[in-house]
Amino acid sequence: MKFLVINGPNLNLLGTRQVEIYGKDTYKDLKHYLASLKKQYSVKLKVKQSNKEYKILSWLHKSFKQNYDGVLLNPAALGHYSISLLDAVLALQVPCVEVHLSDVQHREPFRKVLVLDHANIPRVSGLGFSSYEEGLKMLIKEVTTL
Ligand code: DQA
Repeated sequence: MKFLVINGPNLNLLGTRQVEIYGKDTYKDLKHYLASLKKQYSVKLKVKQSNKEYKILSWLHKSFKQNYDGVLLNPAALGHYSISLLDAVLALQVPCVEVHLSDVQHREPFRKVLVLDHANIPRVSGLGFSSYEEGLKMLIKEVTTL
């Protein structure tokens, strides 16, 4: 099984941005953590991050052609306002799970708007790096029961 992990805007700043919310672990630490999940679950993971919306959309568009079995997506702030992101997820031909490090539903009111609610995909939030592990487990389960 091969999954694409997409991280949205500002996640490259982990470790220095709002440490009281996101903690002191860096984006590099997140990549190491994801590498450990590869071994643990015997899957292939391609991990990407961008601050540019068009890049994230085009990675989503190409995911099926590039033979990914699913996408683990931390859309970051795009998840609160980007209808383009919602449209790209609605067009996906592979399963997708949305993840957030923080508990987005219990933060500022504007973070309660989650555009991917309309895509009807699972979401894991508020578990820090473990949100990715829980999301990955959901993807594996979904793919194995397809
Ligand atoms: C985030 C939550 C978003 O509200 C925020 O804009 C982010 C990170 C998270 O992982 O908790 O950039 O997606």
